[in-house]
Amino acid sequence: MKLLAPSILSADFSHLGEEVAAIEEAGAHMIHVDVMDGHFVPNISFGAAVMKSLLGKTDIPFDVHLMIEDPDRYLEDFVTENTKYITVHQEACVHLDRTLKHIKSLGVKAGVALNPATSLCTLEYAAEEADLILLMSVNPGFGGQKFIPSALDKTKALSGLRQERSLRFEIEMDGGITLDNVRKVTEAGVDIVVAGSSVFAADDSRARVKEFLKKF
Ligand code: DX5
Ligand code: ZN
Repeated sequence: MKLLAPSILSADFSHLGEEVAAIEEAGAHMIHVDVMDGHFVPNISFGAAVMKSLLGKTDIPFDVHLMIEDPDRYLEDFVTENTKYITVHQEACVHLDRTLKHIKSLGVKAGVALNPATSLCTLEYAAEEADLILLMSVNPGFGGQKFIPSALDKTKALSGLRQERSLRFEIEMDGGITLDNVRKVTEAGVDIVVAGSSVFAADDSRARVKEFLKKF
């Protein structure tokens, strides 16, 4: 089953509760929470307090994507009753194996993300610890960028590797996904689709979620 995780990075923060309620009602499976520190990526988004303001207002699970340096320092802040995944970047983790184990020790699923230019080889000895592998299809930092097509071949290779080694991680893709390219993304083997601007910048985000789900 394919899952849709709209990114609140492109939502209207002055009405965040309503924005999330709309996509939840339309059938979105998770909320993708993009945290940026202005160091690992050239932009600052928001931190755990904004995410936590949604607690009690929604039952939808949080899919946290930490685009930050030294993520171990902040992991606990993002653990809540709604948090399902916490994903860190391979490029930001000197001790990736330790960090993935740390996330799991907090009772949530551990994800690792790769930038578009980072090879799958960097996960050769970490894939077993991962519950989720997030392939970036844009260079992280901003919503609304153009999809980088090499992410599709990378997905196929990752899916092959998962099968070969009988591993169980989910494959997620993030960046530049629209109604026009989502089929290619899922056909390549992606399990969890992140969509930011194509959901929240639409005139009717509820209708847009339903259109995405029809493509699955
Ligand atoms: C990119 C973020 C993405 C982004 C996706 O730095 O990790 O989650 O918000 O937004 P769109 O779908 O607009 O590319
Ligand atoms: Zn993201």
